[in-house]
Amino acid sequence: RVPVPALLKRPVDLIMRPDHARHAKIPLPGDLFAPERRNSRGIEFGERAALDRLVADVKDVTPDLKPVADATPEQAGAAIATASTGFAGWSRTPAATRAAALEQAAHLLESRGAHFIALLQAEGGKTLDDALSELREAADFCRYYAAQGRKLFGCETAMPGPTGESNALAMRGRGVFVAISPWNFPLAVFLGQVTAALMAGNSVVAKPAEQTPRIAREAVALLHEAGIPANALHLVTGDGRIGAALTAHADIAGVVFTGSTEVARHINRTLAAKDGPIVPLIAETGGINAMIADATALPEQVADDVVTSAFRSAGQRCSALRLMFVQEDVADRMIEMIAGAARELRIGDPADIATHVGPVIDAEAKQRLDTHIARMKTEARPHFAGTAPEGCFVAPHIFELRDASQLTEEVFGPILHVVRYRAETLERVLQAIARTGFGLTLGIHSRIDDTVEAIIDRVQVGNIYVNRNMIGAVVGVQPFGGNGLSGTGPKAGGPHYLTRFATEQTVTINT
Ligand code: NAD
Ligand code: ALA
Repeated sequence: RVPVPALLKRPVDLIMRPDHARHAKIPLPGDLFAPERRNSRGIEFGERAALDRLVADVKDVTPDLKPVADATPEQAGAAIATASTGFAGWSRTPAATRAAALEQAAHLLESRGAHFIALLQAEGGKTLDDALSELREAADFCRYYAAQGRKLFGCETAMPGPTGESNALAMRGRGVFVAISPWNFPLAVFLGQVTAALMAGNSVVAKPAEQTPRIAREAVALLHEAGIPANALHLVTGDGRIGAALTAHADIAGVVFTGSTEVARHINRTLAAKDGPIVPLIAETGGINAMIADATALPEQVADDVVTSAFRSAGQRCSALRLMFVQEDVADRMIEMIAGAARELRIGDPADIATHVGPVIDAEAKQRLDTHIARMKTEARPHFAGTAPEGCFVAPHIFELRDASQLTEEVFGPILHVVRYRAETLERVLQAIARTGFGLTLGIHSRIDDTVEAIIDRVQVGNIYVNRNMIGAVVGVQPFGGNGLSGTGPKAGGPHYLTRFATEQTVTINT
């Protein structure tokens, strides 16, 4: 039997080195978050006691899972009307005050870490390490946008001009921003969108995914507690119909959306069809994300990184690996090693510390994935099928395709598609990646610098990861977002994000 990479044999070790902590440069106070307690692999081994404490605290929490009523279209309209009133005061609130509220929100998030982790597990089906890194990402967004916002909105920028004239450029909020988010990052993406829009001086009407309204409800309550005025931030729950009503409303000034490409297109058409001001759309969508592994790649590392990228979080990350191109010379051994590593994954209860792969979000998602697996069984060569418990679980699968064109859409679950290529046909691999039309993440495993550089040079992909896994972008370290069918940019957690939420005003004074 092909050896399993050592890292995969230690589930606790994986939990103790969430990707999110790996490169974190933003200081996060608090027990598990203190920077001096991190090393290059996240929380140190000495922190096992802290991890045990966290697990015990999480077990003590009983999340409020009572149903959340959907808003009516009238309530959605009323939220926009109140947010329009709230905009006047909030947009004039000094940037330093807005930033301080976001920093307070980060602090509250961390101090209630166990509570949010329990909620992320109960409502979102997140494993402990996914919930912990999502909590960190949410706090990082608050602090990062606060820091960026102080710089961008804290004072005007003096511009050059002739003698006798002063010129200054200021940035301001646009008005009411509608923020629409998906279920797979119900805390981090939800808060990332909302805090960016607020920091830029907008008031916000936030519509979370219908699958995860409770997390959003608590996140909004936390922001209000942190100092965001009630009339500047509103929660509107419901499904796509409520989202559609919000985006069609005449009085909105911008939309930030994260979700599927199909819904982004729908929103784009709605906004384009409206009379009145042109309303900008910031859309972050999905991808058919590829990895290229050539014959010089380190097989153990490839196996570990592929399993992390394709199967962790049950493959329910927009960044997850879907389509792997392996150089033919090493393909058999590489696939066998990946399958061996996948066999070691524990699938089941997300509240169990040893679980690597939790449930998929709901029965509909499971049905869609099961249908895809059934199709792949007839159209592709099966290499691996894990076993999953009863319920909303989908086991990791590996299928080999004859051709990349067999994968025509984003498959949002733990299913890896492999295609072999020959060294002399690398060009065709790059063309196949371009033909998907998406451009979110790309993994490259190669020890040849020229190959790596040539690939980077040729692809139009937002986030490229070389000789490592391709999920878990860190705020302020790997600004995240794609091109083409994967979104409009700008990148979340990057230095240019806030600018798209704002208008610019130049004032010229003849002195
Ligand atoms: P989705 O597009 O089905 O739903 C996203 C949100 O849009 C939900 O709140 C939903 O209620 C709302 N919505 C649905 N129809 C609408 C309409 N007509 N008008 C306005 N709003 C509407 O996506 P999902 O299933 O919740 O999430 C999974 C998708 O999100 C995947 O495609 C994934 O790749 C993508 N995603 C992308 C990123 C990124 O940063 N690029 C991050 C996370 C998820
Ligand atoms: N930002 C998330 C990641 O990089 C989606 O995995």
